[in-house]
Amino acid sequence: MKEVFLTGITCTGEPHIGNYVGAIKPGIDVSYDSSKQSFFFVADLHALIKCQSPEVVYASSLSITCAWLALGLNKDNAVFYKQSDVPEISELCWILNCVAAKGLMNRAHAYKAAIEKNNLNNNDPDYAVSMGLYSYPVLMAADILMFRANQVPVGKDQIQHVEMARDIAARFNHIYGELLTLPEAYIDAKTPVLNGLDGRKMSKSYNNTIPIFLEEKQLRKAINKIKTNLQEPGEPKDPDVSTVFQIWQAFAAKEQILEMREKFKNGIGWGDAKKELFELINNRLKEPREKYKELLSNPSEIEEFLQEGSNKARAISIPLLHEIKQAIGIKDPRNFELKLKGYV
Ligand code: ADP
Ligand code: TRP
Repeated sequence: MKEVFLTGITCTGEPHIGNYVGAIKPGIDVSYDSSKQSFFFVADLHALIKCQSPEVVYASSLSITCAWLALGLNKDNAVFYKQSDVPEISELCWILNCVAAKGLMNRAHAYKAAIEKNNLNNNDPDYAVSMGLYSYPVLMAADILMFRANQVPVGKDQIQHVEMARDIAARFNHIYGELLTLPEAYIDAKTPVLNGLDGRKMSKSYNNTIPIFLEEKQLRKAINKIKTNLQEPGEPKDPDVSTVFQIWQAFAAKEQILEMREKFKNGIGWGDAKKELFELINNRLKEPREKYKELLSNPSEIEEFLQEGSNKARAISIPLLHEIKQAIGIKDPRNFELKLKGYV
């Protein structure tokens, strides 16, 4: 049996180079590994938790899809879809809500962080906490369990959610029989976490990102904004505390990394280091940028691609949901229809 890799990308803004090195590039690499089956999806239902601008959610869902395609996703060995196009996920989410312990949700980082913030500001602890935020890990469990994923590539902040999916699956299996696959978080120690313009982790939430497909001029400007210290040209610099070097490392080949390390030791000026960084990133992204623009200008092609993806995904989710419903005592009236379609 092939290993099943699955990961979701929340569509709350433009994809940035942190997303690229931390999620998109490793994902695309997996899509070329024929010993693995991969599922990638745009988590638009999750996006609603953080973003209530319909324009942003929709535009971001398209730009993320185009980014994966432009950067070289192997469409033949990966299923790519929009979460909302697979309604079985939402149905499974409710079923899992009925086995997930409330106490488990109380411990979720995102919810706890919201409460802490409210306490700090002397607000009611649940001020501005939606049920979506509270039960976010259950929807994520449904995403994962719907496709029997065993490896879930995520950033460190998401490990807890994958563990919760595992707990929920185990509880379901204990009650109803061994139907669900227990997932594991997949963390590649070699995958870096990039810092943003201000030196904190690059994140849409901090407004400190370098979007992947900025036009050349804007890309140069953004790179020039990366925070550095006040050291002058000629002064030796420590590459290991520099965001410029960290981003360089994520894009450069081994030899280039060694060369740049040497240049830091020899006191390269920040202006020159940033210029080299711009050249490096721009060369890597130039071609995909053109492809991306071309794809974005043709939304019907993207919609078609997503439709194809959701058809492939539903060929798996419909029969599994059917099995789950049989197991929990909800007889599925579509049984006959599903048989006709060859799903069960
Ligand atoms: P953001 O923090 O910008 O909202 P997401 O939470 O949507 O990003 O992350 C999507 C994916 O990109 C996740 O797999 C996450 O681990 C990865 N990712 C996000 N920011 C970075 C970063 N700065 N460096 C490396 N990977 C990142
Ligand atoms: N919660 C994830 C994030 O914010 C996105 C996501 C949604 C996801 N569903 C998922 C990741 C399922 C992995 C598996 O990054």
